[in-house]
Amino acid sequence: MTAQIIDGNALARQIRADVAHRTAALKAAGIAPSLAIILVGDDPASQVYTRHKVNDSIETGLHAALERYPVNLPEADLLRRIDVLNQDPTVHAILVQLPLPGHMDSGKVIQAIAPDKDVDGFNVASAGALMVGRPGFRPCTPYGCMKMLEAIGCELKGKHAVVIGRSNIVGKPMALMLLAQNATVTICHSATRDLKALTRQADVVVAAVGKRKMLSADMVKPGAVVIDVGMNRTEQGKLCGDVDFDGVKEVAGWITPVPGGVGPMTRAMLLVNTLEAAERSASNRGH
Ligand code: GUN
Repeated sequence: MTAQIIDGNALARQIRADVAHRTAALKAAGIAPSLAIILVGDDPASQVYTRHKVNDSIETGLHAALERYPVNLPEADLLRRIDVLNQDPTVHAILVQLPLPGHMDSGKVIQAIAPDKDVDGFNVASAGALMVGRPGFRPCTPYGCMKMLEAIGCELKGKHAVVIGRSNIVGKPMALMLLAQNATVTICHSATRDLKALTRQADVVVAAVGKRKMLSADMVKPGAVVIDVGMNRTEQGKLCGDVDFDGVKEVAGWITPVPGGVGPMTRAMLLVNTLEAAERSASNRGH
């Protein structure tokens, strides 16, 4: 059996088209959805990511401004700037690119972002809202994974989903989103004993570890849905995920490729969150 490919590029394109459509409607009502992106320092990967975020926004009609600061920016200055953006009614969404320089407390900086502008969904208020099932911004990567499962018509109720990885950004929110859809969820991590025994039971596996080829064909139940969140490099420098794609695709029912899987969906969900931040602020102001 060869798995069907979940095409993240195609799905992300559809989502961007929907965002563009809704953005145009909001602009016609006099509201220009706007995202402020803050980049501190000159980490090369962060520069690429933030450039993508700005370009994706502009292509869908959203306004995005990248603010760059030197690596030695005092934390207090950053917190003051976030506060100004929090108060600015023309800014609907705020994203502080991570990692921050070592002298800054990332947790404190993220907490400074107003929850109604926290489009990364990294704030404790956003995480708490997800935990208790209240409205709030969902972190873009697991949110994008859920959209992929929805797109293939994967009914999660009663299914066993195994999430490998327990980060605050992917693993934990992913598990909560799957649980909210009535899946039975197992979270695996570096101290898990006999990972293979667990993944072999899974109807859905989400690999978010950061280790190339960590999920091999013998660890997957025939017909399972395999979502690969990994972003690694081969020895030749080629982008690859956490899943041994060539092996697993012969066993799984569905599989996401890397590149062209979860990555474009993460980018698309930031646009959705930004638009929704603007839509919510509009409805709060009686538009
Ligand atoms: N650094 C790597 N990924 C992300 C992300 O999704 N959001 C932010 N703010 N920083 C990141």
